[in-house]
Order: sequence, then C-alpha cells, then structure tokens
Amino acid sequence: MKNLLIVYHSQSGNTEAMAKAVAAGAEAAGARVTLKKAPQADEKDLLGCDVVAIGTPNYFAYMAGMVKDFFDRVWIHVREKMADKPYAVFGSYGGGGLPAIESVEHICDGLKMKRAAESLGIQREPSEENLAACQALGKKLAGG
Ligand SMILES: Cc1cc2nc3c(=O)[nH]c(=O)nc-3n(C[C@H](O)[C@H](O)[C@H](O)COP(=O)(O)O)c2cc1C
Repeated sequence: MKNLLIVYHSQSGNTEAMAKAVAAGAEAAGARVTLKKAPQADEKDLLGCDVVAIGTPNYFAYMAGMVKDFFDRVWIHVREKMADKPYAVFGSYGGGGLPAIESVEHICDGLKMKRAAESLGIQREPSEENLAACQALGKKLAGG
C-alpha cells in the first residue's frame, strides 16, 4: 500500500476541492492518504511518504505563500533525501495559467524528485469533469 501525502493551500476552496478529489481517487485505489494544509505539514511528512502531491493556487503568478513557506521550512531537512521520490502538482488559477504549478515543479526538480504524473491546473472552481481528472490523478499516484 502506497502512502500518499497531499500538501496544499487554498483560500477560496478551489484547490482544496481538487485536493479532496485527489485523495478520494487515491484512497479508492488502495493508497493510505495524509491530507494536510501546508502550515500543518513538515519534513517528517515529506520524508515518510512514498509519493507526494502538492496543491497550490496561482497567487501573483507564483505558488501560494503558504506552500512556499512549507518548502522554506523543510528544505534543509530534506534536500539530500528526496531524489527519485515521485511527485505531482495540481492547483487552480484565475486567468494566468500555470506559473504557480511550474514554480513548484522547479523546486521538486531541484530536489531531483521524479514526476509521477502530468501536473493538473484548472481554471477557478473545478467542474465535475475537473474533479474526475483529480480523482484519476489520485489513482495514478496510488499506482492504480
Ligand atoms: C492574492 C491572490 C492573487 C492571485 N493572483 C493570481 C494570478 O496572478 N494569476 C491568476 O491566474 N490568478 C490569480 N488569482 C486567482 C486565483 O488563482 C483563483 O481564484 C484560484 O481559483 C484560487 O484558488 P483557491 O480557491 O484554491 O485559493 C489570485 C487570487 C488571490 C487571492
């Protein structure tokens, strides 16, 4: 059974809805899921999981400050220990596309982590179709 960590921030609930759908898809596929808002997550969560999904909205064409704070806090503890850990990134944006997601990918790639799935960016509130895509992402991360 895979241990999936989902770390996310969401102010108006759009990325949170995505995070919950990723979790539901992964659990349905047999994974053990830990779902944490970014301020509650730490390096032990990251080191202890088999695969991680990071959820961030696009705030000012970058990851949310809370997600940046997560990386700032864990970096020195994990920087030599993340090579090949599978990850994926997801999140909601207003009209400005994927720079927030790309900023997370940049950090994960710097840690030599391995992309487990295509990142998933959606515009504003996720539709049923978008949530199904989030569930499919969870299933993929669970190895299903
Ligand atoms: C402080 C702030 C800054 C934002 N900056 C951008 C931006 O630069 N580009 C963009 O596409 N959307 C921007 N948005 C819109 C959000 O990305 C969008 O509303 C998203 O759905 C919010 O996700 P959430 O409900 O998970 O917080 C911004 C929203 C906030 C609150």
